[in-house]
Amino acid sequence: MSEREATLIAGDGIGPEITQATLSALAALGMTFDWDEQFGGMAAVENAGTPLPNATLDSIRRTRLCLKGPLTTPVGGGYRSVNVALRQEFDLYANVRPTKTIVPGGRYEHVDLVIIRENTEGLYVGLDHTFKIGADRRAMAQAMSIVTREGSERIAKYAFEYAKLHGRKKVTIVHKANILKATSGLFLEVAKRVAEQYAGVIASDDKIVDNTAMQLVIRPEQFDVIVTTNLFGDILSDEAAGLIGGLGLAPGANIGTHAAIFEPVHGSAPDIAGKGIANPSAQMLAAAMMLDLWGGGEVLLRPISPVPWSSGSGPSHPCAKCGEYTAGIAIGGLCANCTRVLERRASRIARLVAIGTTAVLAVYVAWTLPVERTARLVGAASVLLWYVFTFLIVKRVAREWLK
Ligand SMILES: NC(=O)c1ccc[n+]([C@@H]2O[C@H](COP(=O)([O-])OP(=O)(O)OC[C@H]3O[C@@H](n4cnc5c(N)ncnc54)[C@H](O)[C@@H]3O)[C@@H](O)[C@H]2O)c1
Repeated sequence: MSEREATLIAGDGIGPEITQATLSALAALGMTFDWDEQFGGMAAVENAGTPLPNATLDSIRRTRLCLKGPLTTPVGGGYRSVNVALRQEFDLYANVRPTKTIVPGGRYEHVDLVIIRENTEGLYVGLDHTFKIGADRRAMAQAMSIVTREGSERIAKYAFEYAKLHGRKKVTIVHKANILKATSGLFLEVAKRVAEQYAGVIASDDKIVDNTAMQLVIRPEQFDVIVTTNLFGDILSDEAAGLIGGLGLAPGANIGTHAAIFEPVHGSAPDIAGKGIANPSAQMLAAAMMLDLWGGGEVLLRPISPVPWSSGSGPSHPCAKCGEYTAGIAIGGLCANCTRVLERRASRIARLVAIGTTAVLAVYVAWTLPVERTARLVGAASVLLWYVFTFLIVKRVAREWLK
């Protein structure tokens, strides 16, 4: 596999040890990335004075692919969650968390489900305030949940497309629309409408979140793909990890149209950090998902990778322009149709600029050069070269700009 550049954030607590183990495993398999190591979380506060340095953001912006260890978020006051900030910064709207029985002999033998959690909206938007009443500065607290039609539609569509691409049979829409009639109600309404578009291809049902939590421990094999809002997905995926042996075995991928960040579901586990007992499997599986996404991990990692990201035709991603899921394009890439349209527009702009500037140059050359054969030939060649180079440069710039 050619070495693709990717950002690496080792993280806090057990992050460095599980990341080191993962890098060793990748190296032993001969599958490594060209890592750009950056800081995040408390390690970044120590090194750069901020939990999310610009250098880290710039690196992810450039590589668009990142393996991240867990990052500590102080409970209560202090810094805002870096994880949430990263998901919002790169619009990583789909959090894919597979749960599959890997180690036999546990409580459940045949768990194989994927939780797809909306990653940018809901109660995690950061509208969380306390209010002063009398002398008590924190007498009252309020959190706001934001659910949009667009956000619900794209995550529901992602879940059904995911199910279709990965040979899954059913998508369960999980909500609390009986109580949260506006927010959860909108999510359910939109997701059900999306489900109708897949009728006959992917089965669907819906469940209230509390019932889902109980059904998960009673009969987890009834679930295939679950799609839900941010907070419910966060809680249910930890619960699901508990079914297969714990958080140490649960990887997650944060997918957006322009970047993807892979990480273990668990946190920085300060209670066991530095003791050498942390299970690195979740981080290794996150790296396996990352490799599968780029088509390099099939041979060796497929048997332990719960998510077959790529098939023979390559991984599928939404086109960054029209949103259509297309096999074989990179994250942030364009489908064939949008590429054609973009090329045509870029060529038109380049032609206009090249013709305009070349005409001015040609008039200038004709006006100033002596009426002598060699000078005329040199002048004509310069004008021609000017046209060609201007066309190529402007086309390149226009292509980037139009993207
Ligand atoms: N994506 C992330 O970076 C992420 C996710 C969750 C929590 N956090 C942060 O992590 C910190 C600690 O959170 P927490 O204690 O609630 O959750 P945690 O996931 O760190 O730990 C929960 C329990 O699971 C155990 N555990 C976790 N990972 C393990 C592993 N690989 N092997 C063995 N045991 C493991 C821990 O020892 C602990 O008992 C907090 O600051 C929190 O905000 C970060």
